[in-house]
Amino acid sequence: MTAAQEDSLYKHLDEMTPWDDTLQVLECVGVVEEAPEVRTFTFRSDNQTWFRYRPGQFITLELPVDEEPVHRTYTLSSSPSRPFTISVTAKAQAASLGTRWMFDNLRPGGHIKAYGPAGSFSLHEYPAAKYLFLSAGSGVTPMMSMLRWLNDCAPWTDVAFVNCARTPEDIIFRKELDLLGNRMPGLSLDFLVENRSSRDGGFGQRGRIDAVRLPLLVPDFHEREVFCCGPEPFMRAVREMLKAAGFDMPAYHQESFGTPPEESLAEAIETSAAAAELAGDASPDGEAVAIRFTLSDTETESVPGQTVLQAARAAGVRIPAACELGLCGTCKVKCSGDVEMSHNGGILDHEIADGLILACCSRPLTALEVEA
Ligand code: FES
Repeated sequence: MTAAQEDSLYKHLDEMTPWDDTLQVLECVGVVEEAPEVRTFTFRSDNQTWFRYRPGQFITLELPVDEEPVHRTYTLSSSPSRPFTISVTAKAQAASLGTRWMFDNLRPGGHIKAYGPAGSFSLHEYPAAKYLFLSAGSGVTPMMSMLRWLNDCAPWTDVAFVNCARTPEDIIFRKELDLLGNRMPGLSLDFLVENRSSRDGGFGQRGRIDAVRLPLLVPDFHEREVFCCGPEPFMRAVREMLKAAGFDMPAYHQESFGTPPEESLAEAIETSAAAAELAGDASPDGEAVAIRFTLSDTETESVPGQTVLQAARAAGVRIPAACELGLCGTCKVKCSGDVEMSHNGGILDHEIADGLILACCSRPLTALEVEA
């Protein structure tokens, strides 16, 4: 550890600056095995900043997998009530590229770049008297962030926490959840597993969440703000179950690791395509629009219908991007000039007012100056 790093360990919060929603370099300070093929990576800021975010939000990591880095979004599992570090908890799926790279290469002392935080899947957005957190597999991560925050800031809150896993061994954060169950008087915990082993003393209830089991586990689920996260088939089943039960769906919120549900994704793709068409129609004569990328001192002309991101790539200017659907916020850049932006929630109104755009879903209407 360098002298500067050691010094920063003993700083008070008011001697540090907050995470400012732009690029940060993070230093990995811990890697913990949580379950088979599931690890938590904990980071501190290389910049001596503290982390400001809402529990349940995600960040985008730039991972140097190949010559061209890849960008992957990860929900934060840590709580902003402990602002000196952040954690992501990830499962390495067989085909995963970015997470597998993290498992094989990221160790304490390693550095990576991060963007964000972003996302509106947070109880801060939907405050309520009672919550139902429904999760499956690594979908437990944003629930853990929110539960840790509640434990630190409002431990009396009424939370029904239902987690589904393949086996008891696959339950992520099981020991900590047990501990929180003892500490938080309003927390009820239920675990549903597909297979139980005798090794685990038959832990958890066998089966899946369905229309019969939900009212047995959470009789007052109609009165709760519901947060749901897990694989898309799980969330689809939960949505259909709640709709069939006459649940008030505006009180239902879901997160799929920065990706929208299938129907919203289709809508997002359609919206982007429609916007491309619209932008194409707006310049039928093929009028080129001048774009100056100030940080890389590059000037180019965009083709009608092209996004700022596409124009940047064509000019050899790199703007980090992950979803390319206006969802994750990774491609947020400062821009002066007029654009047609059709995003899908990846940018906030005050950020737009501050002159920020999402490059992946913004098409120039006038000459632009872009900070990239
Ligand atoms: S890359 Fe995700 S919002 Fe642009």
